[in-house]
Amino acid sequence: MERPELAERAVEETLRFDSSVVAWRRKTLREVRIAGVKVPAGAQVLMLLGAANRDPEVFEDPEAFHLHRENAGDHLSFGHGIHFCLGSALARLEARVVLRVLAARLPDLRLRQPQQLQFVPNIAFRAPTSLQVVWTPR
Ligand code: HEM
Repeated sequence: MERPELAERAVEETLRFDSSVVAWRRKTLREVRIAGVKVPAGAQVLMLLGAANRDPEVFEDPEAFHLHRENAGDHLSFGHGIHFCLGSALARLEARVVLRVLAARLPDLRLRQPQQLQFVPNIAFRAPTSLQVVWTPR
């Protein structure tokens, strides 16, 4: 891989742009007001992390994938607060290693086009059931 440091940027922007966890749950301990909306104590809240990751007040041109986005790491894909994902460091490391190894060993690896992605039916986890790729054997 010519520029291995790009793997880190690619992982953060991918987490922002197309996270594998697009929603998460919370239960309110007390009444709170969120963006002017009163939420009672004991309410079940579904937080749309995927939507927050495309907040135009935080991310410029949020619907586009920008490899060099300076604040890509401000995404909420690993949650926030005391329940922040315990595996975030491992997940980041694994993804960087996979990208670096794939780029080094299969430099012309690309998505097979066209293909229709199917997703596991789940409100929180966004996982394609398969992803077809092509490369030229050396
Ligand atoms: C891309 C991969 C991953 C994503 C997007 C992800 C995302 C999340 C999210 C959104 C939460 C909830 C955070 C919150 O409530 O504020 C969470 C919690 C958690 N994650 Fe992950 N996760 C990933 C990988 C992993 C891995 C690899 C592990 C373990 C090796 C892991 C272990 C955990 C645990 C134990 C919690 C619960 C923490 C708590 O309740 O205090 N995660 N993760």
